[in-house]
Amino acid sequence: MTADVSLEPIAPHHAEDVQRLASDPDVVATTNLPEPYPENGAAAWIAYVMPKHEAGEEYAFAIRKANGPLVGVCGLVGVTEEVAELGFWIGKPFWNCGYATAAGRETVRFAFETVGINRVFARPLECTAPSRRVLEKLGFAFKHTETHENP
Ligand SMILES: CC(C)(COP(=O)(O)OP(=O)(O)OC[C@H]1O[C@@H](n2cnc3c(N)ncnc32)[C@H](O)[C@@H]1OP(=O)(O)O)[C@@H](O)C(=O)NCCC(=O)NCCS
Repeated sequence: MTADVSLEPIAPHHAEDVQRLASDPDVVATTNLPEPYPENGAAAWIAYVMPKHEAGEEYAFAIRKANGPLVGVCGLVGVTEEVAELGFWIGKPFWNCGYATAAGRETVRFAFETVGINRVFARPLECTAPSRRVLEKLGFAFKHTETHENP
């Protein structure tokens, strides 16, 4: 399935939609978003990430369905001259419509062509079959499994 999306650098006017979609327990359960999602979480995250986006240290985008609503968020973290980590989540009402694949493809293109790095990796949780499927569709190759211990 090919979806038509546009990516907008994250900005304060996205906070209300991000807050509503990120507050869904089914979304936070499989991401590194805080659980429960804090009341002012979206506005605080946007204030944190905007200067990093400007400085080229991280990139965060609102994913907008063509001429439609905000459906999720994607971006790059840990950006160096050579490598960055891809991340994304989609609001539950919009799952399985191809949005993560389309947004991920645009973000990888942005990483290679605009930022100029030469490697992008991702670290989906083992339990997240859909996100691993998205990465497969984007051409990512499986490397290894990492184990994390709770602090
Ligand atoms: C994972 C997530 C980003 C996928 O977004 P999406 O827009 O629904 O993804 P797409 O529609 O582009 O693709 C989903 C693919 O997973 C497949 N899929 C869905 N449920 C599946 C399951 N239980 N097992 C295997 N594949 C599954 C879909 O069929 C589709 O593949 P296809 O195109 O070959 O049919 C979204 O579900 C999400 O945000 N989930 C919660 C948070 C999360 O897991 N984030 C990822 C952290 S890295």
